[in-house]
Amino acid sequence: MISRPHPVYATNLGRMYCGRAEEVLLRHPLCLKRNGVQLIFTSPPFPLNRKKKYGNLQGTEYVEWLAGFARLFRDLLKPEGSLVVELGNAWEPGKPVMSTLTLKALLALQEEGHFYLCQEFICYNPARLPSPAQWVNVERIRLKDSFTRLWWMSPSDRPKADNRRVLRKYSNSMRKLLISRKYNAGKRPSEHQIGKTSFLADNGGAIPPNVLQIANTQASDDYQNFCRVKHVSPHPSRMPLSVPEFFIKFLTDEGDLVLDPFAGSNTTGAAAEHLRRRWLSVEVQPDYVESSCGRFSQASLI
Ligand SMILES: C[S@@+](CC[C@H](N)C(=O)[O-])C[C@H]1O[C@@H](n2cnc3c(N)ncnc32)[C@H](O)[C@@H]1O
Repeated sequence: MISRPHPVYATNLGRMYCGRAEEVLLRHPLCLKRNGVQLIFTSPPFPLNRKKKYGNLQGTEYVEWLAGFARLFRDLLKPEGSLVVELGNAWEPGKPVMSTLTLKALLALQEEGHFYLCQEFICYNPARLPSPAQWVNVERIRLKDSFTRLWWMSPSDRPKADNRRVLRKYSNSMRKLLISRKYNAGKRPSEHQIGKTSFLADNGGAIPPNVLQIANTQASDDYQNFCRVKHVSPHPSRMPLSVPEFFIKFLTDEGDLVLDPFAGSNTTGAAAEHLRRRWLSVEVQPDYVESSCGRFSQASLI
């Protein structure tokens, strides 16, 4: 009989495990039951040339490693569940050219899991420091690399989703239009026919585009304060809370289960907790697991 993995800490809604995702998840009761996860939201290690503490594979080894999760993810997901994977750009070592490795890895994961690509998102960070420094700052021959890519995939071509849950505030001009109820109807240069009332319904907000503008300025928060007090370094590549929050709201309901197999500082778990979803996270580095506990005021160590 295979032993069940033990969580390091837990809240009423979630559990954080320490170990390699491929091992922890295979031994988890969830995996034995299958089809229980509504959303897998994750940012795997990127295939960087500059090695991070947590190590990162490169080249075809990386592509094979990521694609190796496809079957496992598919087994864990509900039939109308979603898999959202965030990957940044990679550059060829010593040359001012981009690597296509991240795209290959995403494609391999999508193909191996027989997932539909429901939509591609771009997460644009206007506050990103100029990089790659040699080409952007020193030689001035490239522009700031300032976005990451998120692929929303699913076993279904119609996974559970509702964009009414992620509406943005209307712009000032739209608010004025809703009051004045006047605009130029008719044919646009693009040949689109705009009806007399097409834009006059107040839907409570604007439907967001698939380009998310989120500044990752890492302002002081509970997690950073916890790391400071405990004298541990914060996770070097954590994402802003608003990124998992957006997808959790868009693709799940309260009580659904959200999984992050490469959880780092457990931003996904914290977003899920805040939105009253159940969550399960796995991270291989014990010190990241330990400090991620600082995100939860009510977590108990197990
Ligand atoms: C890009 S970081 C995730 C950051 C996270 N989204 C956050 O906001 O803190 C990727 C994480 O995956 C972890 N990792 C790498 N290989 C792993 C594996 N096989 N199983 C579980 N975690 C792994 C790394 O230690 C790293 O913390």
